[in-house]
Amino acid sequence: MTGSDRTETTPTTELLVCVKCRKGQALPADDRRPGQHLFDGLSERGLPGGVTLRAVECLQNCDAGCTVALRGGNRWTYVYGGLDETADLDTLLDGTARYHATADGLIPWRERPEHFKRNCVARIPPAVLSSIPPKVSE
Ligand code: FES
Repeated sequence: MTGSDRTETTPTTELLVCVKCRKGQALPADDRRPGQHLFDGLSERGLPGGVTLRAVECLQNCDAGCTVALRGGNRWTYVYGGLDETADLDTLLDGTARYHATADGLIPWRERPEHFKRNCVARIPPAVLSSIPPKVSE
């Protein structure tokens, strides 16, 4: 996936990384949790253009490894868990680029990284769901 797949109108993407994730481990001597390692690793590698990296505290998926969320524009938001702070950096960057290249956040199933297929914790509809008319009580 390259930056040439995106258009000038592609909304920005945020990659939210829980820096408090411990993956069920005792705190290491340097007090840097696996979630912080993941965040630092991503910071060092650099994100695809148009993607902002943000540290957050707890996405309520504490027992399932490092956890992140992808959101931006009027896209679906995806929460992924079970990430390893070192082994999954390439997968996460690839999936982030693929997400960013979409208009609605829906990466075609066959194009999703395997980790994304098996470790999606939640997906949250966009703020404006134009395809589903709202029901408003009177
Ligand atoms: S501490 Fe990371 S999801 Fe709760």
